[in-house]
Amino acid sequence: MTAQAHEENGTGSDYAATHLNGHYSEAEAEQPMLDKVQPPCYAQIIGWGYEVPDRVVTNHDLEQVVDTQDEWIRTRTGIQERRVVAVSEETTASLGTQAARKALEVADLHPARVDLVICATSSPEHFFPATASIIQDNLGLINAGAFDLSAACSGFVYALSVARAQILAGDAEYVLVVGSETLSRWVDWTDRTTCVLFGDGAGAVLLAASDVPGGVTASVLGSDGSGAELLTIPAGGSAAPASLETVSSGAHYIQMDGRAVFRFATRIMADATRRVLDKAGVSISEVDLVVPHQANKRIIQHSVLRQLKIPEDKVYVNVHKYGNTSTASIPIALCEAIEEGKVAPGDNLVFVGFGAGLTWGACSVKWSVPIEQPESTWWKNTQRQATYQAAAARSMWKRAVRRIYSQVEPRAMARRPVRRPEEEQPTP
Ligand code: ACO
Repeated sequence: MTAQAHEENGTGSDYAATHLNGHYSEAEAEQPMLDKVQPPCYAQIIGWGYEVPDRVVTNHDLEQVVDTQDEWIRTRTGIQERRVVAVSEETTASLGTQAARKALEVADLHPARVDLVICATSSPEHFFPATASIIQDNLGLINAGAFDLSAACSGFVYALSVARAQILAGDAEYVLVVGSETLSRWVDWTDRTTCVLFGDGAGAVLLAASDVPGGVTASVLGSDGSGAELLTIPAGGSAAPASLETVSSGAHYIQMDGRAVFRFATRIMADATRRVLDKAGVSISEVDLVVPHQANKRIIQHSVLRQLKIPEDKVYVNVHKYGNTSTASIPIALCEAIEEGKVAPGDNLVFVGFGAGLTWGACSVKWSVPIEQPESTWWKNTQRQATYQAAAARSMWKRAVRRIYSQVEPRAMARRPVRRPEEEQPTP
């Protein structure tokens, strides 16, 4: 949807525009139309949010389940606890919806203005439909396209890169990028080599077209499929469809060669960070904060800290609280870094991740929007509630109409007389 169409629909919010472009002056408002229809040059992060399940599983809890020790997990990974979905209603889409909703609220943007939602996930709600479509429906993003992106733990960086490209091409004005996971449902809770590592959660950012310099300024993406078997869920796809044998052999669970992934990750995280900074024209000493994929504290120490010699206080780490939440780890870490006052306008940020595939990616960000969130008034909250309730009602109504059609149509078809071809009227 174009900006003009949004204005006509009256679905706009002044917050995003005001914070990106400064307050509109009379002179700007009178600029010739030509200036206003030029494609935007920058993709700015204007909203952010995350959601994690309430249930905490500590290393001591895991000691009761598998042959492991808190000491081993802490020293080898840095993880102390993780969040795990507890009830069937908590799913990848439900966590992603909550995170995306918070991102919209930070930006104070009406859901109808979003043009595209990309959900990066390794644990989708279903093979199809896309988890992104369910999030789109849950939030009433009635003008948005939606698709899932699969690049394992690198997925959030990949999705951010795609969202930026959509904006720079002029095809979208607002794009929601969600990373959401319930990997606890793909983990073999009897396998100590994997079950201690992963956790559930979701994070989201809202990207907006802007003429203010900065935002997501560069990205690098990479893949080496020769390492595909190092980290995989072997069954459930076309190579090994679900069968009694795949289920009984545990082939639907995550399987990993941890040492090989560790070696790859330490090399590639440093390499990808260097390359994206080169592309963005930013030196390592100018970096204010690296937000790396939170898989293992030692990987972060061996890569960005030691190889790039970036000081510890410029690298955000929260793996001790959440474990590896795959595509959600970078946006969750970004949100917590913002909450802790570690991000400010003018800062140079790097997001860098790696994952199954093997894949890797990095994005460089020049933070250009204020961190302060708009004041949340009673009236605004009521409006938001009404918007989401209307979305839920719209969805229910459409489902009900489809159900009625699916019952009425077959009966109507059955009553319709069948004509033989020779009875058909010749068309003029
Ligand atoms: N508790 C106690 N002992 C354990 C555990 C455990 N949970 N897990 C393994 N061990 C044992 C092993 O059996 C082994 O014993 P052995 O020497 O008697 O054979 C010993 O500990 C050492 O095992 P290693 O695998 O060599 O341990 P390492 O120091 O490499 O740490 C780890 C393992 C944490 C998995 C590490 O290799 C790692 O983090 N790799 C990267 C994994 C990763 O990041 N994956 C996610 C990628 S992102 C995505 O796309 C999903």
